[in-house]
Amino acid sequence: MKITIAKDEHTFDVMAAWRIIGQMLSKPDSVIGLSTGQTTKNMHAIVSDIYKQYPFDTSKVTLFNVDELTNLPRSYAGCCYTMIAEQIARTLNIPEERFIMPDTVAEESECRKFQAALEARGGIDLQMLGLGKNGHIGINQPGSPFGCETRLTEMDPEFEARVRQETGVGPDHKLGGLTLGVRTIMHSRRIVLIAKGENKAKMVETMLKGPVTEDIPASVLQLHPNCEFLLDADAARYVADMA
Ligand code: GLP
Repeated sequence: MKITIAKDEHTFDVMAAWRIIGQMLSKPDSVIGLSTGQTTKNMHAIVSDIYKQYPFDTSKVTLFNVDELTNLPRSYAGCCYTMIAEQIARTLNIPEERFIMPDTVAEESECRKFQAALEARGGIDLQMLGLGKNGHIGINQPGSPFGCETRLTEMDPEFEARVRQETGVGPDHKLGGLTLGVRTIMHSRRIVLIAKGENKAKMVETMLKGPVTEDIPASVLQLHPNCEFLLDADAARYVADMA
């Protein structure tokens, strides 16, 4: 397991950004999976800034996000499509046909289409992953089978409550998510899991030092042959001895 610990948050954000830029420079037709949330926001901004200052060829890069919300319009600011489009895909001038996102509809056929589109481009070269406080990756919540492919899932209840509040949709309107499955994620040629902040420290310890179990989806990454765990010092509090 490769564990990298950045001395502070800013260093972490810059190091994470260079994982993406380095991938694009070394393989200009890379297929790169991103993830949304607080952890990845600054990283996306840094990638965008560096591209603005020192433009490089992004015309053959394919970007997508590991998951998406369903039964909400793409225009909702919390949809992954909108977040990734605004934070990084448009700032890097990624052509529309190379920004692969599932539609926000809860249909199995959409899952198959999304996964097939990634496979048609040769599969995932780099998957950047955030870490849920309960150990989820993408929207693979605890208990997700390690063998699962891209599929429809339930939202985390706390997160769902926030989305309902922000969108004003009532309880009779079904919400959910569409996520790359654990198996699909594990087929990525390279994975970088990033986690920062003290509130992730305990889960980082469980993910890295605990058993590989479906109760902690991120623990499966211990078995990936090319996965780097990039952490800031706060998130790495209980695993510093492993780096
Ligand atoms: C959501 C996303 C995940 C992401 C996670 C971490 O659950 N579906 O893909 O990794 O949030 O979010 P944060 O970085 O805000 O802690």
